[in-house]
Amino acid sequence: MRYRIWRVVVFLLALFPPLLWLYMGLTQQLGPDPGKVLVDNLGQGALVLLLLTLSMTPLRRLSAWGGWIAVRRQLGLWCFTYVLLHVAGYLTFILGLRFDRLLDDLSERPYIIVGALAFVGLWLLALTSNHYSVRRLGARWRQLHKLVYVILVLGLLHMLWVVRSDIGEWVFYAVSGAALLMLRIPAVAAWLSARPGKVKSFRKALTAKSAGL
Ligand code: HEM
Repeated sequence: MRYRIWRVVVFLLALFPPLLWLYMGLTQQLGPDPGKVLVDNLGQGALVLLLLTLSMTPLRRLSAWGGWIAVRRQLGLWCFTYVLLHVAGYLTFILGLRFDRLLDDLSERPYIIVGALAFVGLWLLALTSNHYSVRRLGARWRQLHKLVYVILVLGLLHMLWVVRSDIGEWVFYAVSGAALLMLRIPAVAAWLSARPGKVKSFRKALTAKSAGL
């Protein structure tokens, strides 16, 4: 309830890009191959949402504002939704719904197998992202949700395979992902968690000093 407004903001921000791309596609503003552009945009959007989801816990540790965690689940589910649309776009615009060609296409584009593995992982996380699963799985829930790092690595590998020569954007995503992974190292995570406390005690000390205590 407390962070409802932020959930609404995240919802609208995540909903906007696919609607814009749809509009641009329908009004012929996506170039000669709109289907391919749509698939690429949704793929990149999914990766950005995955990185944003992973940055919520470090931000919470850094700032102690509870809103980060309140929107984390929603960001993860949006990442899943973008991937669903990305896959639907692939099947429709690239494969042309000719499912008999799927096996041939997989041998022509082996990077799809890597993407599909990440997709399976995302299904597992999406299906267990509800309160019931958190309660039911207990400590195993945390273990299962560490899968998100494997998904990130698979997503990055999948993208690298597609972009091959023009790797500028890929490097940006890979460096951001590596930084987020480093923030999960227990010693670094503990240091981050200690920071808001330190800021608070520093403020307390300052107030006490100015009050002559
Ligand atoms: C069954 C699962 C998947 C399939 C079939 C699939 C299919 C594709 C295809 C065909 C392309 C290349 C489109 C083209 O330029 O010709 C692509 C690119 C891409 N995909 Fe996937 N993908 C899958 C899963 C994923 C996942 C899980 C992610 C991210 C978490 C992802 C992120 C990307 C990215 C970032 C690109 C590159 C976009 C660009 O070049 O700008 N994909 N995918």
